[in-house]
This record gives sequence, structure tokens and C-alpha cells, in this order.
Amino acid sequence: MWKYSGLRKLAVGIFAALIVAGLSAAAPEARAQQRGVDAAGHAWWQNAVFYEIYPRSFADSNNDGIGDLKGITSKLDYLKELGVDAIWITPCFPSPQVDFGYDVSDYEAIDPMYGTMADFDRLVAEGKQRGIRVILDFVVNHTSDKHKWFIDSESSRTSDKRDWYIWRDGKGPGQPPNNWLSTFGTPAWTFDPKTNQYYYHYFYPQQPDLNWRNPAVEKAMLDVTRFWYKHGVAGFRLDAVDTLYEDPNLTDNPVLPGTDKFGRPNMDEKYNKKLPEVHDAMKKLRSVANEYGAVLIGETWTTNVDQLRDYYGSKDDELQMPMDLMMTGFKGLSADEYRKHIAAVNAAGHWPTYVISNHDIVRSYTRYGDGEHNDDIAKMMAALYLTLRGTPILYYGEEIGMENNDPKSKDDVQDPIGKLGWPLEKGRDGERTPMQWNESVNAGFSTVKPWLPVPGSASTHNVADEMKDPDSVLSFYRTLLELRHSEAALLDGDYVSLNENNPNVLTYLRRYKGEAILVILNMSATVQMVPFDLSEAGFSAPKLEVLLTSFHKRVKGMFAKMPMEPYSVFIAKVTK
Ligand code: NOJ
Ligand code: CA
Repeated sequence: MWKYSGLRKLAVGIFAALIVAGLSAAAPEARAQQRGVDAAGHAWWQNAVFYEIYPRSFADSNNDGIGDLKGITSKLDYLKELGVDAIWITPCFPSPQVDFGYDVSDYEAIDPMYGTMADFDRLVAEGKQRGIRVILDFVVNHTSDKHKWFIDSESSRTSDKRDWYIWRDGKGPGQPPNNWLSTFGTPAWTFDPKTNQYYYHYFYPQQPDLNWRNPAVEKAMLDVTRFWYKHGVAGFRLDAVDTLYEDPNLTDNPVLPGTDKFGRPNMDEKYNKKLPEVHDAMKKLRSVANEYGAVLIGETWTTNVDQLRDYYGSKDDELQMPMDLMMTGFKGLSADEYRKHIAAVNAAGHWPTYVISNHDIVRSYTRYGDGEHNDDIAKMMAALYLTLRGTPILYYGEEIGMENNDPKSKDDVQDPIGKLGWPLEKGRDGERTPMQWNESVNAGFSTVKPWLPVPGSASTHNVADEMKDPDSVLSFYRTLLELRHSEAALLDGDYVSLNENNPNVLTYLRRYKGEAILVILNMSATVQMVPFDLSEAGFSAPKLEVLLTSFHKRVKGMFAKMPMEPYSVFIAKVTK
């Protein structure tokens, strides 16, 4: 029986149980603190909330239409208040910007468009003062074709750095070495008439793949990480790790039925992706990271949990945080699909890293919004990835319910894959638009026209307005993040799935030391009555304190089942 009253932060009893006042999380033991871990043995990055910043789009301090490092520094107080502990900045290194920074022409400098090394050092220092660590994006698979290594490499067949990239003879006149394709819609091989050979690139032709089989390349790349660790960087997000190695025999990939978004045959990329050697490189990067107490996050696109598990390393000696990107591919909101996935991830026995959006994927607001309950759905998705066991990575703007603003015509597209693949592939501009700070011109991002257009939704979904509204997506995020930082069960608790057969509602406990946090998520568009029994989870006469709901209506009374509004969230603390 639910005894229920009030709207938001309110108290509930089950079977008319006691109303319980707020309890604080148990203090971590001093000894554990000395080891840099909490009472449950967790390292800083396990308890941290990470926030991904696309620097071109976050805050423009010098009003040239492009965000920059000083802009990020100016928003650290906002991030602190939101509850962010670490920021991952996508590449801010010198770059011709063909792939908006993922084509790096110098790994050990800052692109003047974003500021100076002094600006970077100041960002790290200001972050430190606020307890916010800085993570950089390390593009390990390829450089820009304007990097001095590649300029040397392409200069002649006998140049010093020729073997730093993957050069091969064609099969015959006008015929590339094999059938591999670039994921960005072009061939994977570009012919260089000067030296009469082809070079390999999994991405754009301006992004030649490094040859990680060359020990000199490996050493140079490990040294890059040392350079940044000395600048106070707390770790790296490693770009495109799946593609680090290729079959040295250049075996053709099997051709599959159907075509891709660019109209080319589908391929099973078994000879140029996820080769076992990737794990050797991860181990080497990890051992340098260990010298600096740093964390490695992986851009690990996997199709199943076993593949993801491999990226932790058989001896936990590879990535601490291989991103679970699988949820971003779920087509709808199915409680069963999430339940099964979360169970599989937990069974794999490592610390998960959950992601629901990033700069390469349509924003979750747009993916799941039904036009009627969009803000409720945004809150429901937030409650999901911020209350699960593991570390969440929050993409900038998700906390205010930003939506995609896709280009309306091919001429408006900035992202080259959108130009090449239009209209099936519109590119990634839509999820990279300027952060919406307030209602003023250009959403307060810049006084001049930003590099990408601000969507109309900025008038309702922006930081300034949502700060004032207790029912906004932002207020919901802030409360959730506050709970993540104060409730030991949300950090350290195990995951116990409840009501396993309910196809519409995901219910679970995060259980820790005799107490728990109960999370109920209605993933459907209709009211769901949620039955409830915690006895098997060890709570036969539980007391509940409601911590957060997203309910619109005030509900009062005693219920045998919990009435959950469409796409609503109910979070409560459970004690014995
Ligand atoms: C993954 C990055 O997230 C994406 O933005 C980029 O285009 C490719 N890797 C190539 O670096
Ligand atoms: Ca700027």
C-alpha cells in the first residue's frame, strides 16, 4: 500500500510505514581516502559525473562566432553548480578543421581559434579550484594530412616518416590496394601521384591513419600523453580506438547485402576494425596513465557486452572507462530492452560508463521525444543514466533539453559527411549547435552569428530560464546530480532489478549497507500502476522517503500500486 502525498520532494510510506527524514550518506573511511578511493574502494572517476564539451559550441568569449577555452573557463561556476566533476573537451588542438578538430596537425599545442596554452593552463587551474578535472580528446588513429609527420611521410618513399602511415602499392593502374571503405563515404585509399602509392584513411582523406605497428609512432603517441599529463590533464578520451590496426596482408573485407547511407555496398569490416593488437596499444597507454593517476575513456563502439568487456583488459589493464554506446542505438523506449542490457552490463563485472548522447549522435531529446511529453522523456532518460551503477557522461545541453537543429538544405551543411551523403546522411551539425545560455540573441552564446544556427527552442530551453523554473529539465538534472553526490547507494550500491516482467516500467534498487534508492521509470505514454514488493530485495517492512519525482499532478492517499504518470520518474530512499 502506498501512502502518498505532495508533488516533488515528499514523504511516502508503504503499508502505512513511517515517514523518514533525510539521512546523509555514510562518511568514507579515512584510510580509504588516503588510497584515493572511497569507502567502497572506488576511484575518483567512478564517483565523478563527466560532462562532454564541444568547444566550438559552448561559449564564445571573443565573439567570433566560435566557442573557445576562455568561454569554457567562464562557465566553470555553472558546471560546478550543476554537479559536474570532470569535463571532456573534444579536440582543441591546431587543426585545419576538416573534421572540426578530429584532424590534428599538432598534438602538443592549442589551436589559436580556441586560445593559447596559457588559457588552457588557466582552465585547468580554475577547474582544480572548483574540483573539476579536465580530460582531453586524443585522436590516436590518425592525424591531419597537414601534420608535420604526414608532410614528411608523403614527401618521398624514402622519407624519415614514410612508415609512420600506411602506404601501399595499388593492385594495378587506378586500382586501390583492396576493397576497404572509409566510414565517411569516400574510398579508404587515396592515391599520391608523386610517390605513386596509396595511403590509407578510415575517415576523410585529410585524416591519414597512423601506422601503430611502427614502434616510433607508438613512442611518439605515448609521449603526447605525457606532455598533457604534465599540464595537469586528468585523462583522455581516446578517439576511434577500434580502428587503430589493420590486417597487414590487406585482406579484402567480406561484402554484405545492401548498401550504406552513401550508396556503397555494406561490408563486414573484420580486417580493419577491432584487431586484437588494439589491446596491446590500450595497455601501453594505460601504463603511462597509471604513472599519473589518470583515467582513460574509450570511444568504444561495440555491438555486445562481451566486446565492451574486452576493452577493460583481461587484467583490468586497459581502459577504465570504455564507453557503453549501445544504449544510443536503442530504437525506442522499451523497458525490456534496457532491463536486459543493464543486467548484461552488470553481469560483465566491470564499472560501466553510460552515455546517451554525444557530438556524433542525434540528441536524445530528438531521438525519443514524442512531441507531447518531450521534457518528461528527457527527465526520464536523465534519471536512467544518472542513477545506474557506473559513471555517466553528460553531453553539453542535454541538461536543458536541447534538441537537434539539423540543416534544412545541403547548402547549410558544415559537416562534410552531410554534404556527401545528403539527404540520407545530414551530417552531425544538428547535435553540435551552440549551448543555449539565455533568451537573448544567439542564445547568449556569442554576440555575432554563431558557426551553427541556434534552434527556436532556445527561447524555452535555456539555462537562465530553466534555473528559475523548479519544474524544468535543468532543475531536474541539478537535483539528480545532487542526489548522486550525496547518496552513497547511488554511488556504491549494487543494482537490483524489480518487477522484471513489466514491459512498460523499469524499476530497480541501488542497495547499499542496509538501505537503498528505489528508482521507477515509466517508459510508456500511458499511466502505469506499479505493484511493489521489496521483501525479496531484503526490505520486508521498508520506510520510504521520496527524493525526486517528475509528476505533474499532486497525488495524495494510500495506494496498493504506485500510479506512474506517462514517462514519469519516482525516486525514493528505502530504509528498514
Ligand atoms: C569519432 C569522433 O567522435 C568523430 O567526431 C570523428 O569524426 C571521428 N571519430 C574521427 O576522428
Ligand atoms: Ca571565439
